[in-house]
Amino acid sequence: KKKKKKFKALVTAGPTREYIDPVRFITNKSSGKQGYEIAKSFRDNGFETTLISGQSNLDPISGLNFIKIDTAQEMFDETIKNLPADVAVFTAAVADYKITNYENKKIKKENLNLSLEKNIDILANISKHNSLRPKLTIGFAAETNNLVKNSLKKLEEKNCDWIVANDVSDNSIGFDSDENQISIFYKDKKNENLKKMSKSLVASELVNRVIEKLN
Ligand code: CTP
Repeated sequence: KKKKKKFKALVTAGPTREYIDPVRFITNKSSGKQGYEIAKSFRDNGFETTLISGQSNLDPISGLNFIKIDTAQEMFDETIKNLPADVAVFTAAVADYKITNYENKKIKKENLNLSLEKNIDILANISKHNSLRPKLTIGFAAETNNLVKNSLKKLEEKNCDWIVANDVSDNSIGFDSDENQISIFYKDKKNENLKKMSKSLVASELVNRVIEKLN
């Protein structure tokens, strides 16, 4: 009897922290819930799954390769280490900037002067990588305005197969909420608007579409 091939999935989730000194950091708003639900759904569908998570209050998930990180650089390094995969979903709220000069002693408050530089774009790096790019590379777009335009721009600029977009200006969905309402933008310019539903159902809707695509 031939064993069905096991697909590999990688998910990034949660916020990253960019340290100013040992006690201070800048970060993004993100609970990690949607990414954790997606990783769970991959696991439950028999994928060999890696979840790379920033600092989040959610419990670790069993039955998959769970990796906790702090900074964007660490998230990038772990992503590289855990590829190749058949599908990667980048849900993490990566801090866009990091501090140019990390001070290894606590800075006194009189002298706090921040100099920032652009952080590494994990998704764009992977999606443009010749050998490590997953067959299905999926980005997220959290937008407060111009959702369609910004999502299509990210689809193109980050070389994604799909972009999953949600409107984070609506407090009943996104961030700490247990519900979400997503739109999926596909590379062929088609798009789908899903109804508002639990983040767990959003995850299975997405994973079902991934399975359909991979088979
Ligand atoms: N992303 C990433 N690494 C970064 C920034 C973003 O991997 N340094 C990924 C996110 O995980 C998400 C997608 O890129 O899948 C879009 O992230 P988003 O924060 O919406 O977009 P940005 O590229 O940061 O652009 P902007 O903040 O200008 O909207």
